[in-house]
Amino acid sequence: MALSPGWRAFTSFAMNCCGVLRKAVRSSGFPLFPWGHCPWRGTGSFLDPEMKAFLEENTEVTSRGSLTPEIQLRLLTPRCKFWWERADLWPHSDPYWAVYWPGGQALSRYLLDNPDVVRGKSVLDIGSGCGATAIAAKMSGALTILANDIDPIAGMAITLNCELNQLNPFPILTKNMLDLEQEKWDLVVLGDMFYDEDLADSLHQWLKNCFWVYRTRVLIGDPGRPQFSGHSIQHQLHKVAEYSLPEPTRQENNGLTTSTVWEFQP
Ligand SMILES: C[S@@+](CC[C@H](N)C(=O)[O-])C[C@H]1O[C@@H](n2cnc3c(N)ncnc32)[C@H](O)[C@@H]1O
Repeated sequence: MALSPGWRAFTSFAMNCCGVLRKAVRSSGFPLFPWGHCPWRGTGSFLDPEMKAFLEENTEVTSRGSLTPEIQLRLLTPRCKFWWERADLWPHSDPYWAVYWPGGQALSRYLLDNPDVVRGKSVLDIGSGCGATAIAAKMSGALTILANDIDPIAGMAITLNCELNQLNPFPILTKNMLDLEQEKWDLVVLGDMFYDEDLADSLHQWLKNCFWVYRTRVLIGDPGRPQFSGHSIQHQLHKVAEYSLPEPTRQENNGLTTSTVWEFQP
């Protein structure tokens, strides 16, 4: 299985972090649910019916080809029309949420295999995308979960993916948390979030603060992207687990072969 030319361009584009894309994604950071001043009150129970129909029509439910076959997700696959279409015909912001990225896969596998890491804990999944890592945390017994992604469509996809896995949707926040006052979390997880140098710098500062103020545990999943491997955060990481990626994930990610879970200890 290989990405169509259009979507191969999208993923390389996304992972090479074009500034225009970054701006477009950041500017879409508005809340999905009208919860007033407390953005993480409520759950992902509201789904715009038109968008729900669009997502259902243009994604495929799959649990194959990832490190976590026990999680079902709605993803963009070769059976979907837009897999073959030119990426610029896609009518919404770039669908990062329609891909289950290698960093998130490793993190989710780790949480499923080590439920003690999350059981009874409050967990924040930043850049949740399809929501798989938040779903893994919920399956492993996390007490409270917040899935955060600045793309409002990701919020809807996460809600659908919770339903697919027979989970009550957990709260979803589509504001940029890096701009908000920090809250205390027992664990913050980030899958494949270090794909852009500016974002990596912002996350690094934010995570340092989280660690020093609240002693929050931070786990990062990454397949060795240059923006991560070459970042100064490398001096503050401890390897927790490394996974060999399944063949379909390798093919979709330009030959990346492994993905690693790191603990951030500044
Ligand atoms: C490469 S995807 C990873 C998704 C998921 N964690 C996974 O591993 O499958 C990165 C995600 O981060 C989101 N994102 C980018 N900047 C963000 C920010 N400042 N806060 C929250 N989410 C952000 C994007 O919308 C996208 O869904």
